[in-house]
Amino acid sequence: MSVSVAVLAAGQGTRMHSAKPKVLHELVGLPMLGHVLNVASQLADVPPVVVIGYGGDEVRRTLGDEWTYVEQREQLGTGHALLQCAEALSGKTDIVLALVGDIPLLRLETLQHLVEHHRDTNATVTVLTFRPPHPRGYGRIVRVDGGRVVEIVEDKVATDDQKLIGEANSGILCFKDEWLWPHLEKLSVSDVGEYFLTDLVGRAVAQGLLVEGVEVGDPDEVIGVDDRVKLARAALIFRQRLNEQWMRAGVTIVDPAATYLDVGIELGQDTVILPNTHIRGTTRIGNGCVIGPNSVITDCVIGNDCRVEASFAERATLEDGVDVGPFAHLRSGAHLAQRVHMGNFGEVKNSYLGPRTKMGHFSYIGDATIGSEVNIGAGTITCNYDGKRKNKTVIGDGAFIGSDTMLVAPVEIGAGAKTGAGSVVTHDVPPEAVAYGVPARIAGRSVGSQDGNRDEGE
Ligand code: UD1
Repeated sequence: MSVSVAVLAAGQGTRMHSAKPKVLHELVGLPMLGHVLNVASQLADVPPVVVIGYGGDEVRRTLGDEWTYVEQREQLGTGHALLQCAEALSGKTDIVLALVGDIPLLRLETLQHLVEHHRDTNATVTVLTFRPPHPRGYGRIVRVDGGRVVEIVEDKVATDDQKLIGEANSGILCFKDEWLWPHLEKLSVSDVGEYFLTDLVGRAVAQGLLVEGVEVGDPDEVIGVDDRVKLARAALIFRQRLNEQWMRAGVTIVDPAATYLDVGIELGQDTVILPNTHIRGTTRIGNGCVIGPNSVITDCVIGNDCRVEASFAERATLEDGVDVGPFAHLRSGAHLAQRVHMGNFGEVKNSYLGPRTKMGHFSYIGDATIGSEVNIGAGTITCNYDGKRKNKTVIGDGAFIGSDTMLVAPVEIGAGAKTGAGSVVTHDVPPEAVAYGVPARIAGRSVGSQDGNRDEGE
C-alpha cells in the first residue's frame, strides 16, 4: 500500500515570541520541520507536501526545493490546512498521513507502526495517541468503554468530564485517501471558528467505519514544540539519543551531558569526545581521534588519529594524524595534510599545509600553499591582504620560516629556503636562499644557521 505525507506547518507559533516561523527553530543542527521532513521522506512514496502560511517564503528558502509546498493563506484550522493538499495528493496513494511541523522527535519506526496498523485493520482513520502528564490543551480520545475510538474532542470545546480523559491526540492521523478528500471538503466549521481535522473521526464513526487509536510507546516522541522551554527540552532529548547512538557505535563520550552533536555528523570507532565539544553540520571524523575538550567543529572532514584540543574549525580538512591546539582556529578552506602540527594561537584560512609541516605558535596563514616539512616559526604572518585583493603565498618543501617573519603576498619562498627572525619578505626568495632584514635581502644559500633562525616548532 502506498503512502503520502502532508506536513501542516502554516501556524505562526505565537508562544515562541519570535520573528522566525516556529518550525524553523533549530535543534541538533536542523530546523524542527527539517527533522519531520527527514522522517516523512523515508516513509512517503510520493514527495511530502508541506503546508506553509506564516513566514512561508522563509520556510521555503530554508528547507529548499526538495519538497512540494502549498500555501494556506488564512490559518483556519488543521482541517482547512490539510484540505490545501487535495490537489497535490488526492488519488496519488492509498494512505494519507497527516503530520505537523513542530514534532521533531518523532521516529520513523513509530510512523511505520502506525501505518502498518492502519493497513492491517483496514481502518478509515487511525490516530496516534499518547498520555501527556498534563493533557490540558490537547484533543482527547473518546473511546466506548475503553475500547473503540468514537471521537476526538478538542479541549476548546470539551465538557468537564471529557477534560478528565488522559489519552490525547498527538496531532498525527492516518487516513484512507479515497475517503479523506471528499469528507475534508464537507467539514463544517467548529464553534470556535476553526475547521478541526479531528472532526473527521466522529464523521467516520457515524458512517459505521472503523477508527483506530495507536498509543505511542515513548510519549517524548510527540512533544509539540510551541515555546522555547519545550524547544530546549526536545533538544536535550534529541542530544541524548544521538550521544547514545554514537556510544553504541564505538565512540567514547566522556560527559554526554556536555557534548553537543548535530544530527548530520559521522564519527569513527575509538574516537574520544571530551566535554564541552560541539560537532556540527556535515562534519565527518575518522577513527581514533581525540576531540576536545572545548572544541567547536563545523562542516569539517577529519581523518584518523587526529587531536583537536580547545579549538575552533569550520569547513576545514584534516588528514590523518593531524594535531591541533589548544586555542587554534581553522577557517574555511584550511587543509592540513598528514601529521601537520598546529599549536596554540594559530589561524589558518584557505591554505594547504603539506605533510609534517609544523606551525607551533601564534601564526596567521591565509591564502597560502605550503609544502611538506616546512617549519613556520612563532609569530609568522602571511600579509595576504593589500587593502584591495587577497594575495597568495607559496612556500616550498623543507623551507624554514624564522620567528616573526612577515610574508608580504604575493610572494614565493623556494624549497629549502630560510627567512631570518623578524624579516619582512616583500620579494620572492629562491630555493635554498636565505632572506633577512627589513625589507628582506637575499643572502647566499641556507647552509647553517642565520640571523636568529631557530626551529620554533618544538
Ligand atoms: C491539534 C489537534 C489536537 C492535538 C494537538 C496536538 C486539531 C483540531 N487539534 O491541536 O487534537 O491534541 O494538535 O498538538 O487538529 N496548522 C496549520 N494551519 C492551521 C492550523 C494549524 O498549518 O490553520 C498547523 C500548525 O502550524 C501546527 C499544527 O497544525 O503545526 C497543529 O496546530 P495547532 O494550532 O498547534 O493545533 P492544536 O489546536 O494545538
